[in-house]
Amino acid sequence: MLIRTRDTSAPAASEITPEPIYRDRRRFLRQAGQFAVAGAAAGWLRTVPAGVTDVLDLESSPRRAKFSTDEPLTAEDSVTTYNNFYEFGTGKTDPAQYADALVTEPWSVTVAGACEKPGTYALEDVLRGLAPEERIYRLRCVEGWSMVIPWLGVPLAALLKRYQPTSAARYVAFQTLYDPDQMRGQRRSVLEWPYREGLRMDEAMHPLTIMAVGLYGKPLPNQNGAPLRLVVPWKYGFKSIKSIVRIEFTETEPPTTWNMMAPREYGFYANVNPQVDHPRWSQSRERRIGKLFRQDTLMFNGYGEQVASLYRGLDLRRNY
Ligand code: MTE
Repeated sequence: MLIRTRDTSAPAASEITPEPIYRDRRRFLRQAGQFAVAGAAAGWLRTVPAGVTDVLDLESSPRRAKFSTDEPLTAEDSVTTYNNFYEFGTGKTDPAQYADALVTEPWSVTVAGACEKPGTYALEDVLRGLAPEERIYRLRCVEGWSMVIPWLGVPLAALLKRYQPTSAARYVAFQTLYDPDQMRGQRRSVLEWPYREGLRMDEAMHPLTIMAVGLYGKPLPNQNGAPLRLVVPWKYGFKSIKSIVRIEFTETEPPTTWNMMAPREYGFYANVNPQVDHPRWSQSRERRIGKLFRQDTLMFNGYGEQVASLYRGLDLRRNY
């Protein structure tokens, strides 16, 4: 299953997928997807190719104990059926119900802004040669619940370095796919589409930050953000943007979806902070999915030792 071709730090010009080709591939795949659905219904076509596993060996990814919590894992079926992915609806079970419509292969990512290697890259080229790891992280949602998830991913720093950000790059912005045909939730204006998120460059390059491609030893289910989603464990879950198609290095703080929607409620930083309440509810405790009693929320979601220094001198009440 694994094809490990080479370990490059920067993509060659030949790896950049020309725009007309990836557009064609996407159209082809959508048609192929419809064909596959019809085929599956007829009982003669059952397999869909898995892009991520063509270039990354997810099965033997080493666990990074140094970064992982040893708390009990949240049940896999809770992780994959209780989701926030407004592109498929605002209900917790909508993503599991409707995300099948998302075609994740082929997939391409446009890299833009302050870097030496901008371009539109096929997902395989974005990931090829990177070493996936398993990281067991707490995910604390701003709504007050949390999970413990065994992610598979690559350090975001390794992925970003391929595109050689310049010294002008102080932030990195991410965007989710916009395609109301596949993402039925985008037919309504519940959020300003496409979903956007961003990190300061030092947050993006921090060793805890990963680009996840899987969970529970398998490629990401669509409802969890296939084929590529951010995981920033010391921040509220909404920073962990799903199904990313665009990465842009910027000089100034990029606009982010929830901050644009309700700036008093959702800041750019969104660091988990039990001392700073959401205007409409307390953030001091959380409900771990699958557990009966609520528990205390930890500063920086328990990753303070690793990340507190990033915010030295910053007023965390104002920069929430
Ligand atoms: N990314 C996109 N594109 N759209 C979304 O609605 N929801 C966010 C985040 N990423 C969201 C998103 C929120 S609020 C949370 S808590 C996490 O995804 C949930 O991730 P999970 O469903 O994998 O647990």
